[in-house]
This record gives sequence, C-alpha cells and structure tokens, in this order.
Amino acid sequence: MSDLYGRIIGTGSYLPERIVTNAELEKTVDTTDEWIVARSGIKQRAIAAEGEFTSDLAYQAAAEAIKSSGINKSDIDLIIVATTTPDLVFPSTATIVQTKLGLGGCAAFDVQAVCAGFVYGLDIVDKYIRSNSCKNALIIGAETFSRIIDWTDRTTCVLFGDGAGAMIVRADNVPGIFSSSIYADGAFKELLWVPSGVSTALSELEMGRAFTKMKGNEVFRWAVNTMSNIAAKTLRDNDMDASQLDWVVPHQANIRIIRAIAKKLSLPMEKMVVTVAEHGNTSAASIPLAFDYAQRDGRLKSGDIILLEGFGGGFTWGSVLLKY
Ligand code: COA
Repeated sequence: MSDLYGRIIGTGSYLPERIVTNAELEKTVDTTDEWIVARSGIKQRAIAAEGEFTSDLAYQAAAEAIKSSGINKSDIDLIIVATTTPDLVFPSTATIVQTKLGLGGCAAFDVQAVCAGFVYGLDIVDKYIRSNSCKNALIIGAETFSRIIDWTDRTTCVLFGDGAGAMIVRADNVPGIFSSSIYADGAFKELLWVPSGVSTALSELEMGRAFTKMKGNEVFRWAVNTMSNIAAKTLRDNDMDASQLDWVVPHQANIRIIRAIAKKLSLPMEKMVVTVAEHGNTSAASIPLAFDYAQRDGRLKSGDIILLEGFGGGFTWGSVLLKY
C-alpha cells in the first residue's frame, strides 16, 4: 500500500443568487409543489444569471475551499473541474478557473462523467497523489445545468439546478482516502442524455436547443441498484460493514433514491447527508456541495468515516471511501 494518501483539507461551495421555487415552476409548467416534493424531495433550485458561467460558480467555490484549507493558492499543483456544462467547447473550464484564481503553470483539465464527475475527479486526484505526482489538488464540481434543460419539459425541468462545490486535497501520510473506484457502461446512453453536441449537431448547440432527455423510471431503478451495489462492494473491499460508516454523501438527485439506498444498506436516514431539497440535482456539483453544507453545519467532523457515491449519464458511477 502507498505511504501517500489524498486528504481533504478544505471545502467550499457556491449557489447562484436566483432561487426558483416549486411554486414558481407551477406557473410555467403543468406541475405542483406537492408532486415535485413527493416524487423527488426537491423544494427549490438555484439558477445562474445571464452572463454567469460555470467557471464563475467554480471560481467562487474554489476560493472558499482554498480559504478554508489554509494553504497558499500558489501551492496548488493540479486543478480538475468536473462538469457537463463547460463555459466553452475549449479551452477547458479548469484552465479558465485557473486564470481567474491568478494561477498558471500547473496541470488543469476537465472531467466529463456527468453526475458521477466529482467522484471520477477525486479518483484521479487520489491516484496523482499516491503516485507522488501532486501535493495539493483543487477539485471542483460545477454546473450550469439550467442551460441544457428544456424549461417546458416538466419531466426534467423540476429536477435540476446550478451550483458548484470544491475541495482541496493534500498529500498526507495518513488517510484520507482509503479507496476509490469508478465505472461506466455506455450501453445506457439513451436513458439520460443530451442527444446533440459538437460533432453531431452543432446547430442545436448554437440555437440553445441541446436539452437533457431522460427516461426517469428506468434511471431511477438503475441509480438505486447501482449505488447500493457500489456501496456494498466498497465496504467489502475495505473489510468494513455499513455500521462503521459515520456518513454517506450520495449524489443528490432524488430523496427517494437516497432513501432506497439507505434501506438496502440497512443504514438509518440520519447517516445520509441530504441537501437535495435546497438545490435539486446539480449534477457534478452535488456531492461536493452536499459535503460542504454538511461540514459547515457541523454534521461532518474530523475523523468521520464517509462514503461518497455518484451516479450519472452514460451510465457512469463510482465511490470514494475516506476518513475526514
Ligand atoms: N409534475 C407533475 N406530473 C409529472 C411531472 C411533473 N413535474 N413529471 C412527470 N409527471 C407525470 C408523468 O407524466 C406521469 O403521468 P402519467 O402517469 O399520466 O403518464 C406521472 O407523473 C408519473 O410519472 P413517473 O415518471 O412514473 O413518475 P416517477 O414516480 O417515476 O417520478 C421522477 C419521476 C423523474 C421523479 C423519477 O423517475 C426519478 O427521480 N427518476 C430518476 C431521475 C434522476 O435522478 N436522474 C438523474 C440521475 S443522475
């Protein structure tokens, strides 16, 4: 086993100012607050302002994470942004955030694994650290998902929101991250996707008509089974059982998915970090956002054993088991 571990030493998050409540959506699509809360647990979502981009959200979360870590920002030697909604086709959002932070020279790149993007990014960070290729990584999950939502489609528009969360992960001789693993299966592409892009249909992008399509029922079933299985496998691989976990920070897509995972793991809901009511599904931002909220309100404490797990379009999924 490596002598080096990735350890989270700072977190931050950011939500755009504009909050859209379920009551507001009732005025624009055929839905009700009761339906949205009962089926998803979501009460509101934050939506980026015109001219506010993923890199702006990412920058705010990153600045807060750097401040809370106490490191000098010039010590950052790797920047990863997990996003599905980059500012531009290129350059990467990570390089844009790098410039906004006044940094230059260190490696900076984006990771695209939709809602599992942050777990993918943390897996990469941990491997950089274990191979002694990086000492202080900045990892951000940031999305302006509202830009790829059809606001007339009630089956998707009530579920998603914008936001960002960030972490500083430092190389340390004590864990830190015990283990991380990531997976994908592209056979499920059409259950959750934006069916146009740069190479296939640039006109849709140009006209702002590249929207998320989802077969919600099927995604729901896969999300519950896959996240329950990955949690159980991660615990098995680390010779642990669920009772040893202090917290699970699952992808925040739907309270019913989170409840079902807790049930399958025989974990009380009190051990599940749940923030989906406040910001909806923010895709790659949801895990670091939830983590930052829960550590700021005192739920997550130093020394806690925490399981992060993500699931997203592709499908993509993964987990990170760590000591905070
Ligand atoms: N308001 C009111 N009714 C709605 C609605 C809305 N916003 N969206 C859909 N409905 C209707 C449907 O049209 C359907 O009506 P019908 O029975 O007349 O056809 C009915 O509600 C039930 O739809 P269904 O899709 O079966 O509901 P559900 O219980 O599966 O809940 C989701 C829908 C989308 C909330 C749920 O499937 C889900 O959360 N799926 C996973 C989504 C997800 O997490 N995706 C991201 C993963 S990273």
